[in-house]
Amino acid sequence: MGKISKYFKEAVARAVNYNQFHADFLRKLPKEFHPAAKLQFVPLLSSDERAVANKIEAFRSQIPKVSDAQKIASYTSPHSGSFKKDAQGHALSGEYVESNVEAHVKTGSPKLKGMLLKRIVEGYGAKRVLELGTNTGFSGSYFIFVNGVELTTIEGSESLCNIADKNMRRISPKYRIMNNLFDEAIDQLIQENAKFDCVFIDGQHEKEATLHYAERVKPLMAANAIYIFDDIYWSDDMNEAWKELVYTKDFSKAVDLFSVGVCVQEENTSGKTALYDLGDYLPRPNIFRKNW
Ligand SMILES: C[S@@+](CC[C@H](N)C(=O)[O-])C[C@H]1O[C@@H](n2cnc3c(N)ncnc32)[C@H](O)[C@@H]1O
Repeated sequence: MGKISKYFKEAVARAVNYNQFHADFLRKLPKEFHPAAKLQFVPLLSSDERAVANKIEAFRSQIPKVSDAQKIASYTSPHSGSFKKDAQGHALSGEYVESNVEAHVKTGSPKLKGMLLKRIVEGYGAKRVLELGTNTGFSGSYFIFVNGVELTTIEGSESLCNIADKNMRRISPKYRIMNNLFDEAIDQLIQENAKFDCVFIDGQHEKEATLHYAERVKPLMAANAIYIFDDIYWSDDMNEAWKELVYTKDFSKAVDLFSVGVCVQEENTSGKTALYDLGDYLPRPNIFRKNW
């Protein structure tokens, strides 16, 4: 589908389903997710949010200037079905690949995505946020813009950690960057008895890896914590992971917001997960990497 026909289809669906979205979807959806769902239905920022986004986004063009390296390596997302663990039960990461620093200007959440994350955390009232996948610190900056939020974020690439540090320190001092592979950092946080109200899983986009990290972070999560899964329409198997996660017994509620899926960890006494699906009101995104 071309970009124009995609936007056209979405605009028509918005107009046709506008009343139903409000009277039906929002009526059933728990209130804490309304700000995020509204942004996904009508992608417009308030003037205050535009000011926040402008402040955060001003760093993007600075990345080549503040970087201490010309080439920066990051861990790529592995192909479907390639997941393996080592003898310790740690996930093997995707390939570590170098690219020019300029290529990293565009990586990291853009403003609408960042604001969506901000609205989820703010709406839910989460204060202790854990992130798997720091990159250049854009999602992190949107998280720590929320009053009272403390972020712990994990990134395997040292050069990316340095850039993210310069990015996020402009916003708030309430963050900790761990330069480790995800499993190593999770081990350390478990030893420290750390607890979080929210985790954003945004690295190693592959079904088994996603299920692995969702399981690994469990001892770190407080009662009623939320899990935000990024890119649930990135590949067929990321979408399978999402469908599998929705119906695990640990989650009582799940919200499909297309670019992310959010699950609430509550004792699921009925044994059924309530799924709130934006796909009932807007055209569902195509899988980004078919046959990946
Ligand atoms: C999609 S980017 C994160 C984007 C960032 N959360 C944002 O929205 O601005 C994923 C990051 O995770 C890192 N990564 C992937 N697999 C990893 C692993 N197993 N351990 C540590 N870092 C990893 C990559 O180097 C990459 O920078």
